[in-house]
Amino acid sequence: MKIKDKTFKILIQEKDLQEKIAIMAKTINDDYEGKAPLFIGVLNGSFMFVADMMKHITLPSKVSFIKLASYAKMESSGTVKELIGLNENIFKQDVIILEDIIDSGITMSTVMEEFKERGASSVAVATLLLKPKSLKTKVDIKYVGFEISDEFVVGYGLDYDGLGRNSGAIYQLK
Ligand code: IMP
Ligand code: MG
Repeated sequence: MKIKDKTFKILIQEKDLQEKIAIMAKTINDDYEGKAPLFIGVLNGSFMFVADMMKHITLPSKVSFIKLASYAKMESSGTVKELIGLNENIFKQDVIILEDIIDSGITMSTVMEEFKERGASSVAVATLLLKPKSLKTKVDIKYVGFEISDEFVVGYGLDYDGLGRNSGAIYQLK
């Protein structure tokens, strides 16, 4: 697959993504039995993951989204931008953050701190992808779909310069 100047090869097939997401959802259903968690997706990258995950969640649960872009083209800008769009009251809520990918982990640790400050009962993270070698900060990530190498990936919500999100599979830079 080609996007602008870059060529990508298949990394995770659509079927494998869907299977893994169903397993992650089942684990969450079991872990949160008797609770009513608030799911918060991090836009834009998580939109497909959230949609597919929520179809398997059987708990009474709310879904909302926040936004904070820290990536310009292929490099992390290094600065965490302001968290916008959080209209839900998260005081005394069991929050589960849904993220497409954790790279340096800086975005996620900032978001978790903010949620704890606002009085959430618990804050857990479920990420579809994790680049363990890229982690620059200690983040407590409870649910991980796939651990991948630190090469750049696109598809299934993830973009290269805004493109490539509209694919059911995940592709890696060749
Ligand atoms: P972090 O703060 O470095 O963990 O940045 C995480 C965010 O960067 C993710 O939510 C993605 O939006 C973006 N990102 C990180 N790695 C990739 C990648 O390989 N492809 C596309 N976006 C990525
Ligand atoms: Mg993201």
